Amino acid sequence: MERTDVVTPLPSAGMQPATTAPAAATAPGGTRRRLLEVRDLHAWYGESHVLHGVDFAVDEGEVVTLLGRNGAGRTTTLRAIMGLTGSRKGSIKVHGAESISMPTHRIARLGVGYCPEERGIFSSLSTQENLMLPPVLTKGGMSVEQIYTMFPNLRERASSQGTRLSGGEQQMLAVARILRTGARLLLLDEISEGLAPVIVQKLAEMVLALRRQGYTIVMVEQNFRFAAPLADRFLVMEHGRVIEEFTQAQLPQHSQKLREYLGV
Ligand SMILES: Nc1ncnc2c1ncn2[C@@H]1O[C@H](COP(=O)(O)OP(=O)(O)OP(=O)(O)O)[C@@H](O)[C@H]1O
Ligand SMILES: [Mg+2]
Repeated sequence: MERTDVVTPLPSAGMQPATTAPAAATAPGGTRRRLLEVRDLHAWYGESHVLHGVDFAVDEGEVVTLLGRNGAGRTTTLRAIMGLTGSRKGSIKVHGAESISMPTHRIARLGVGYCPEERGIFSSLSTQENLMLPPVLTKGGMSVEQIYTMFPNLRERASSQGTRLSGGEQQMLAVARILRTGARLLLLDEISEGLAPVIVQKLAEMVLALRRQGYTIVMVEQNFRFAAPLADRFLVMEHGRVIEEFTQAQLPQHSQKLREYLGV
């Protein structure tokens, strides 16, 4: 599918942030399709049992944020969805297909893209080379031209080496790189971490732009202020389980509880 028409450049840093997330896109007929369904998910690193029955589901076009204290199991949840933990048990359906026994490369082919906290930009490669590195896995991925239209500063930095990019540019590159593969479910781990407020605002605009284009996003965030206006739904994790779930509209009623859970 040609999507040039829906790719728009992100506003430059310093512009007014977009408003809070509008309701997620609905499929023709008004019903939203379930993209991800995680049931009774357990995961281990070696002998260490880290996830203890994670349950949640995400519809197509939704932005969901995993909140929790350090060590709650949020990164492990993203890694387990991607098949990157030592072992895992339970059920993870992507577009209804059971992926619990699939290796990572097959999960990626279902249209799942993972952006790890450490970003994984190759310092000796240029922006463009980093962008071209992952193979295109499913139809409908953005072309390099579309990516540069959406991220004009990556175009400017196309031939700059990875080490010469700022933290914010590296983070945008790390996300842009998965858009090329054709992934429609994006698993983003703490993309705002360690970045200056003006860059964090640009990342917020990026998330909203991706959302408008119908991407489905599961984000892990420590920065609640960043996540709060972006997500349709919030899941709170503790000790390897989802212990609470609420929508954007329910946020005000949950602020006291959130402070207790997260210390925010
Ligand atoms: N590679 C690993 N080997 C063994 N244990 C791990 C490994 N990675 C994480 N853990 C443990 O698993 C638990 C969950 O960690 P996870 O990284 O999922 O937490 P988190 O919610 O992402 O929090 P944070 O990012 O703040 O650390 C923690 O107790 C952590 O110490
Ligand atoms: Mg983490």
